[in-house]
Amino acid sequence: MDKLVIEGGVPLAGEIGVSGAKNATLPILTAALLTAEPLTVSNVPHLRDVTTMLNLLAQMGVAVSMDEKLGVELAASRITDPVAPYELVKTMRASVLVLGPLVARCGEARVSLPGGCAIGLRPVDQHIKGLQAMGAEVSIEHGYISVRAKRLRGATICLDLVTVTGTENLMMAATLAAGTTRIENAAREPEVVDLAGCLIAMGARVRGAGTDVITIEGVERLHGARYSVMPDRIETGTFLAAAAATGGEIRLRGARPDILDSVLEKLREAGAQVDTGPDWIALKTNGALSAVSLRTAPYPAFPTDMQAQFMALNTVASGTALVTETIFENRFMHVQELIRLGADIEVEGNTAVVKGVRHLDGATVMATDLRASASLVLAGLIARGTTTVERVYHLDRGYERIEEKLSRLGARIRRVR
Ligand code: UD1
Repeated sequence: MDKLVIEGGVPLAGEIGVSGAKNATLPILTAALLTAEPLTVSNVPHLRDVTTMLNLLAQMGVAVSMDEKLGVELAASRITDPVAPYELVKTMRASVLVLGPLVARCGEARVSLPGGCAIGLRPVDQHIKGLQAMGAEVSIEHGYISVRAKRLRGATICLDLVTVTGTENLMMAATLAAGTTRIENAAREPEVVDLAGCLIAMGARVRGAGTDVITIEGVERLHGARYSVMPDRIETGTFLAAAAATGGEIRLRGARPDILDSVLEKLREAGAQVDTGPDWIALKTNGALSAVSLRTAPYPAFPTDMQAQFMALNTVASGTALVTETIFENRFMHVQELIRLGADIEVEGNTAVVKGVRHLDGATVMATDLRASASLVLAGLIARGTTTVERVYHLDRGYERIEEKLSRLGARIRRVR
């Protein structure tokens, strides 16, 4: 298993480009199931989760190829097997995103229930509730969700809580339903908006994406399209936090500052100077950082996917920060590892109390999930001496060539196989 070995203490400096967003790419790839014509997706990041999704789609009979501009072309002229098996779903919960498109296009789908997950229970009851409201018959058999519907009907669905993939699944299902669907209490995440953009390019009638009410007028069929995925706001935020935590100065090209308000605000509150243009963000620090308290919540509030990285930043900031996680119940797995590097953190319920220390000291730590891994890499960049981050495969699920990008910013980081 690969490890990352980091010699800490180097302020990050320089310029790099931001990759396409993982969380927009995954639903957009599954949208290919909605049409018999080819969907060509560009700016697709090279990540393990993306490969897993392409394998899953290929297994269902979707023809997957690369076009001359490195776009991924997906042609679902025939879907031979509308099933997402346990082996794939257990490695990537976002596999559940095939459920809505499959039922809409084939009238049936079988998707394995996601198994135990490291960061919480994450049930899929809202996905199921929405499909039932649209007339689908849902049963749970042998660990699989089986859904059947001759043709889905438009419905008004009020989600009990804000769910990103739940909103995306139902929005995709509704594009081919008979009549109009209204999703209330919808997720407003920019990735939902990006998916809606792709569906509209395919001929879907979607209004309101980016607000908490999305209206979809069903059509008989969708057609092929070309679509370019938005930049990854979490990758962007991770590099900015790393630059701030190491006292560096960086510029990110191809970024979207307009969808990062809450994160940029917290970086400024910590004492970093952040400048933005239409498609770039620059950050520099003058002196020590101040602790920043934060509370995760659905967009546009502070993203749960940035919580662990800010925890790492707070470990060496001056003062005490309260970091409250409201989305997932078990998302503090990085805390124990950060403590092994010398951090002073106490967890009380869903809040971590982080008291800034003068410095962290390198050690061997183990990554437990995607964003926890990112926070350990950040901590390694801050720490004195050598930090070895084990189980890097979590990081490879969501960060494209992270060690290469960090090296370009001057970090002393290498992968050991
Ligand atoms: C997506 C993101 C993930 C991010 C998360 C929250 C993708 C591929 N992943 O995950 O990176 O951390 O949003 O921003 O886009 N819930 C239910 N019932 C449901 C669905 C969700 O109770 O049917 C709960 C979950 O347990 C969780 C909360 O709702 O506590 C939010 O989950 P959700 O927004 O669905 O997360 P994902 O879409 O899986």
